[in-house]
Amino acid sequence: MAYSDKVIDHYENPRNVGGFDKNDPAVATGMVGAPACGDVMKLQIKVGDNGVIEDAKFKTYGCGSAIASSSLVTEWVKGKTLDEATQIKNTDIAEELALPPVKIHCSILAEDAIKAAVEDYKTKHQN
Ligand code: FES
Ligand code: FES
Repeated sequence: MAYSDKVIDHYENPRNVGGFDKNDPAVATGMVGAPACGDVMKLQIKVGDNGVIEDAKFKTYGCGSAIASSSLVTEWVKGKTLDEATQIKNTDIAEELALPPVKIHCSILAEDAIKAAVEDYKTKHQN
């Protein structure tokens, strides 16, 4: 399988790898798995008082496309509101990275991870 240059770039130079302290109230975590292949993606966001995502980090145990998708998404969500972040579509990720059809589920994993992180934030902050 031939990976696109963008996938290889994000795979070799992943942006924002790592994690934040999950006990920080500004931090929320999304952890998702892909049943098709067993890959796991953890994506964390750090949200400012104004509801804007200030920072994001990820750890992905998976294929090159999954790593590239999560790396890309951590870049995209910065500066977005929570609602804007949930509007990121896996098709946008797949298009940006030129993923082939068999790797579409890797981009779905990244979309699910950001949605799960936003959900986690909302759950943590509902009173
Ligand atoms: Fe094996 Fe994705 S890690 S197919
Ligand atoms: Fe499973 Fe890429 S092969 S997420």
